[in-house]
Amino acid sequence: MKFDTPAGQNPVDRMRVVGQPLDRIDGPHKVTGTATYAYEWHDATARAAYGQVIGAGIGKGRIASIDTSAAERAPGVLAVVTAQNAGKLGKGRMNTATLLGGPEVQHYHQAIALVVAETFEQARAAAGLVRVAYTRSRGRFSLEREQANAVKPEGKDNDDTAVGDFDAAFAAAPVTLDARYTTPDQSHAMMEPMASLAEWDGDKVTIWTSNQMIAWGKGDVARTLGIAPEKVRLVSPYIGGGFGGKLFVRADAVLAALGAKAAKRPVKVALHRPLIANNATHRPATLQRIRIGATPEGRITAIGHESWSGDLEGGGPEVAVQQTRFLYAGEHRITRMRLATLDLPEGNAMRAPGETPGMMALEIAMDEMADKLGIDPVEFRIRNDTQVDPEHPERPFSQRQFVECLRQGAEKFGWDARKAHGSVRDGRWLVGMGMAAGFRNAPVMKSGARARLDGDGRITIETDMTDIGTGSYTIIAQTAAEVMGVDVDRVEVKLGDSQFPVSAGSGGQWGANSATAGVYAACMKLREVVATRAELDPATAEFADGKVSGGGKSVDLADVAGDGQIVVEDAIEFGDLDKRKQLSTFAAHFAEVGVDVHTGETRVRRMLSVCAAGRILNPKQARSQIIGAMTMGIGAALSEELAVDETIGFFVNHDLAGYEVPVHADVPRQEVVFLDETDADSSPMKAKGVGELGLCGVPAAIANAIHNATGVRVREYPITLEKLI
Ligand code: MOS
Repeated sequence: MKFDTPAGQNPVDRMRVVGQPLDRIDGPHKVTGTATYAYEWHDATARAAYGQVIGAGIGKGRIASIDTSAAERAPGVLAVVTAQNAGKLGKGRMNTATLLGGPEVQHYHQAIALVVAETFEQARAAAGLVRVAYTRSRGRFSLEREQANAVKPEGKDNDDTAVGDFDAAFAAAPVTLDARYTTPDQSHAMMEPMASLAEWDGDKVTIWTSNQMIAWGKGDVARTLGIAPEKVRLVSPYIGGGFGGKLFVRADAVLAALGAKAAKRPVKVALHRPLIANNATHRPATLQRIRIGATPEGRITAIGHESWSGDLEGGGPEVAVQQTRFLYAGEHRITRMRLATLDLPEGNAMRAPGETPGMMALEIAMDEMADKLGIDPVEFRIRNDTQVDPEHPERPFSQRQFVECLRQGAEKFGWDARKAHGSVRDGRWLVGMGMAAGFRNAPVMKSGARARLDGDGRITIETDMTDIGTGSYTIIAQTAAEVMGVDVDRVEVKLGDSQFPVSAGSGGQWGANSATAGVYAACMKLREVVATRAELDPATAEFADGKVSGGGKSVDLADVAGDGQIVVEDAIEFGDLDKRKQLSTFAAHFAEVGVDVHTGETRVRRMLSVCAAGRILNPKQARSQIIGAMTMGIGAALSEELAVDETIGFFVNHDLAGYEVPVHADVPRQEVVFLDETDADSSPMKAKGVGELGLCGVPAAIANAIHNATGVRVREYPITLEKLI
């Protein structure tokens, strides 16, 4: 089904099931331990051996020698896989460094060997017997030091952008800001580590894994192993969090496959926690410069955003200037990114790559500018709203209720009560309020599904869409139930298997809208076949209460299928929609903090996010997405940072003890409001996405609240106590 015009009336608009706050279908499975995660496929596990990954002990250089003989003789060891015996390997499209290194080492903890043994303990013990000698080379491990060597990155989306004459407008502006902000390297820190269980059947391999994008993963496993994609099956029905760290196959999947081949047994591999931060990907640090020029009335005349980040040779930049191309009006504008080559572990997407670190900087800058102008920060943002893409004024936003978010948020939060900086004291606490815009693009992606009607009137949906804790199972069931006119408990949803039609997958907050639209397409096709079989006019047939009706006739869906089943497949395709309209989501984030006047400790006291993100498919799940993201925003503001050892190129705090994410005690009362929206341009679902919106801007709202509380302006994240004292 091609979607290229605004959607008219369709069955989803009935909103009998879609839009309802249903509990998660997968919830009971998860809390009773019956949801099967990658490491837990017991049939294969009963025969499985265990693989322990060895990560390189240098940041850059070569393996001079690797002696695996003692490990091979150790009890229970079945195989030791290294680059020397693994055969010729290719490289996936999505990984920058190779997933099995050697002899060249590209980054610290790059996998260089897998020890396979009968038991986990034997594999781990034997891994300790592998002796590796390295020849170290000089690495580039400091973004600050490499900033001057950074170059313009390749790729159209990474081009400089410019409108008008920024330099002249900035020089002429009566009120200006020119400030530098930094964001640190961050780790996804998802609950479930990367894990895979691989089993060969002749020349075909099945990998039970934990992966957000099944089709990408299947392609990259095939490329890496040098086999045809048809020989690879990926299965990933449950995922214990991803945050972008599982958008791509990593060493666990590839090494499980190689280990299983060598051991001639199923092999399971989990990346042990201390390996993940350096072995897998991370959100790259940024240095950002923001310049804003405005009239005394607070109209932005010039806005410039530059960002520097680093990655391995062949990698890409953190697109931290992204939102500055879209968020505020301003006649004269530039954005620029520069990329330094760093020999740190591989940088890549983490929840809302681009906007997350970009908004961390831009939204402090906006707060600073509002202060300079003596204008309320909410009002300053309202004055600079735009209804068109400011770099391409012929291109409107499909829908943009940013101002409404700001107004409602200010009212609900009691923003009027905000006092002068550093003026509110509650015992030992300095108390302040801050706010920031929320912005994240909402791209659409082709997405397919299979829909089946059985003789018992049940509908089964199969798609390789994944559920990373976001609620895909439930909104897909809601979509199918709505379109087919059946109760939601008559729908079964099967996800995360490369044998199912290729979906949008879970990334870039496009999953909910695109994947349900794909299910919509398949179900609309199923309606057509069902109506025709029932000898009804497909154009006017009604689907409700488990029946198809028309012209005074009504037939049970079960009877239409009879003894057999009806199976159809379709995909939603969006053509050039992205080019004609700008699809984005908006929010206003508010936070109140207390800062301990003696220690500088910050506690977030309450938070509010008002979001405009198209139709909300399931308000309970959407709220969960937002409060989870707001919580991640607390971490980004106050504690999360991979500490770089710049002498050896290593993230030092590489586990959940040293990499500090918020715990329950750090999270205050959080309120979420969704504006009542439908975006007819976005898809037949009229939805957009919320999974990332809830994070973008939150750290800056907290930073701005800290400034209001203390009068101290911190431009370097995370805002730890020593920066306030
Ligand atoms: Mo995301 S990290 O854009 O899946």
